[in-house]
Amino acid sequence: MEIGIDKIGFYTPSYYVDMAELAEARGVEPGKFLQGLGQSKMAVPPISQDPVTMACNAAQDILTDEDKMAIDYVIVGTESGIDQSKAAAIYVHDLLDINPYARCIEMKEACYGATAGLQSAVNHVARHPESKALVIASDIARYGLESSGESTQGAGAVALLITTNPRIAQINDDAVYYTGDIMDFWRPNYSDTAKVDGHYSTVKYLDYLDKVWQAFKEKNQLALEDLQAVCFHLPYTKMGLKALRQLLPEATDDQAESLQAHFENSRYYNRYVGNIYTGSLYLSLLSLLDQDSQLQAGDRIGLYSYGSGAVAEFYSLTLMPGYQDHLAKADHEAMLANRNRLSVADYETMFSQTLNVDGSKQELAAEADVAFQLVGLDQHKRLYSRRQ
Ligand code: HMG
Repeated sequence: MEIGIDKIGFYTPSYYVDMAELAEARGVEPGKFLQGLGQSKMAVPPISQDPVTMACNAAQDILTDEDKMAIDYVIVGTESGIDQSKAAAIYVHDLLDINPYARCIEMKEACYGATAGLQSAVNHVARHPESKALVIASDIARYGLESSGESTQGAGAVALLITTNPRIAQINDDAVYYTGDIMDFWRPNYSDTAKVDGHYSTVKYLDYLDKVWQAFKEKNQLALEDLQAVCFHLPYTKMGLKALRQLLPEATDDQAESLQAHFENSRYYNRYVGNIYTGSLYLSLLSLLDQDSQLQAGDRIGLYSYGSGAVAEFYSLTLMPGYQDHLAKADHEAMLANRNRLSVADYETMFSQTLNVDGSKQELAAEADVAFQLVGLDQHKRLYSRRQ
């Protein structure tokens, strides 16, 4: 039975800061952000977008009424959750009008959460082939103004509909995963910004890639030449380039060139959005599928998922015949093109806005052209609106 990705949706907030301007404001060479990190723009969420609204905004365009009736498992992968108890997936389930006879949970392990969600969804659909599962990765990456990680922030969500007979890609049963208790990046409950040992985190990312890549090849008796492209978790796109370069000594010259060309397509959207934590790998996959005209049905794509703390996984998917007909490239490009550019001062103001924590009523401004947004708070309860 083939199980995999039937549809993919994407959302990123309608504001961004230009990385060259941010570099200038921070007194660093623009080349450091543009080439050194491989980032051109960074998405900035207004206070009215949170992991719930971004998840809904990513999923709404891909779901038909029939999908909503068939979905009986909703998983939101996030590490920027809004509640320590209630799952973001419950709000999403309600706002999207999904079948009430559904399981709804939140999945957390830093940037790895959505991959755990996706594999859990595949197992669920394998056991209940008539059902569909909705997995949404939704995150706001926050390190703080003028912090060491500031240039690697971002915000957005990617929604994946997991079904039998998927129209985009089959998820192969070949995953290899690895866990180790390390302090490379974490966020204590009392902090709304991440703590990070930046350079150590990049070393561990590559170290864990080696562990799961070697084990993946051995377990599945596969080699790099069996993969037409590889997508990586992209906290910033240069990180993926380093990961690719770590694999390339195993490639022939021709294959190395081809893998590099595919990689450029796989980092295109991420370069303009920034880190969306657990959605970054899936944004990279979407970028590859939308932007790459050389791929074809039957091609096998490797995926490297890394979540600090840390859990890593390497698995693959295989493209389905006609997968190109089920993508919304023009919509994704329009979403990125139609965003509002913020000055660094306006970005700082937006970044510093806060929600009331004393239970008093707060009303937020309406956002133009967005289906789901947070409209306020009352007695510690979030109030959402849905524009049809
Ligand atoms: P930094 O100290 O600001 O930058 O830290 P740097 O000095 O390392 O420079 C970055 C690159 O720019 C270097 O290239 C420089 O040479 C180059 P590299 O040597 O790495 O190839 N550079 C220039 N290039 C061109 N022109 C110039 C120029 N100047 C310098 N003029 C760091 C960078 C990424 C560490 C920092 O931004 C940070 O801490 N970010 C957050 C942590 C992070 O993203 N870690 C990635 C791995 S862990 C992970 O992916 C998990 C994560 O997503 C969280 C989760 O799981 O939830 C983060």
